[in-house]
Amino acid sequence: MGVGFGKVILFNEHFVVHGLPAIASAIGAKTTALVERRVGSGIEVKDERPETKGYKAEKLAQQRESLDRMLKFMNIDTEHNAFTIILGGDLIAASGVGASAASCAAIARAFSQELGLNYSDEKVNEVAYEGEKGYHGTPSGIDNTAATFGGLIWYRREGSSQLMERMRLRKPVEIVMGNTGMVADTKVVVAGVKERKEREPEKYDRIFRDAEQLVRDARKQLEMFNLEKLGSYMNENHRLLQQIGVSCPELDALVDLARDNGALGAKMTGTGKGGYMVALTPGRELQKRVAEEIERKGFQALRTTIGI
Ligand code: MEV
Repeated sequence: MGVGFGKVILFNEHFVVHGLPAIASAIGAKTTALVERRVGSGIEVKDERPETKGYKAEKLAQQRESLDRMLKFMNIDTEHNAFTIILGGDLIAASGVGASAASCAAIARAFSQELGLNYSDEKVNEVAYEGEKGYHGTPSGIDNTAATFGGLIWYRREGSSQLMERMRLRKPVEIVMGNTGMVADTKVVVAGVKERKEREPEKYDRIFRDAEQLVRDARKQLEMFNLEKLGSYMNENHRLLQQIGVSCPELDALVDLARDNGALGAKMTGTGKGGYMVALTPGRELQKRVAEEIERKGFQALRTTIGI
C-alpha cells in the first residue's frame, strides 16, 4: 500500500510558484494507493476516496494526464501489462488539502512496491512532481514535497531545484480547515496570477515584497512558538492573497467566521477560488467552537493538527 499525506499551506501559496519561500504542514489525513496486476493491457482506476461533491468528475481528465506522465516517467509499459490502481484513505478529495499530490505520491509508492523498484522518498517526490504537472500546469513542487515527506516544511523553488528544510514545532497545534465545497482548477487560478502579475508589475512587486518579508517573520514566530503573532501573520497573508485575486466571497466569509469565534488567525489555503480555508485554533475547546460554527453554517469542517 502506498501512502501520500494531505497538507495545509500555512503561508505563501501562489507566491511560491514564483520563487518565494512558503510554509506547509502535513495534516493527519492520508491518501492510500494499491496497485494490482491484471491480465491484458492498460490502466484502470478505482477511486474510492471520500470527496467533495463533483471533485472526481471535474478532475478526471487531469487525473488521466497526471497518470500518463507518471507512468512514462517511471518507464512502466502499459501496452503489454495491465494494472488496477485503487485509491482510498481518509483524505477528502477536494481542492486545498493537497489531494492531487497525495494521490500522486501514493501511486508512485504503490508502483514501487508492486514492481520492486525500491524508490527512495526523493524518487517518489520526483515522480509525484511529474504527476502534479497534470493538475497544476507549472507546479511549484510544494504540494508533492509535503505529500511525500510529511511534517512541517519550509519550501522554496530556485530554478529547477526544489529546496526543502524541515521545521519543528514545540508541540502539535490544533487547526480547523473549513471547506467551501467548491472545486477549483489550480491550472486556471495559477495562470490568472501570472497574467495579472505581468499586466501590473509595480503593484505585484510590492505585494510580493511584503509576502517575502511576512513568511520570514512567520518562520521566526513558528520557531518561537508564538501562536498569537503567527495567527496575525496568517491574517496578513490572507490579505495579500486577496490582493492577488485568488480568494472569493465564500472563503472570506469562512475566514471572518473563524476569526469572530476566537481563531488566532485564518486564511485561505492552497489554490483558492473555492476549496479550503485554515484557522489556527490551539486547544481542543477553541478548535471545537470554531469547527461547530462552520458546520452550523452548513459547511464541512476538518479538525486536525499541524506539526505532527
Ligand atoms: C496549490 O496547493 C498551491 C499553489 O501554490 C500551486 C503550487 O504551488 O504549485 C497554488
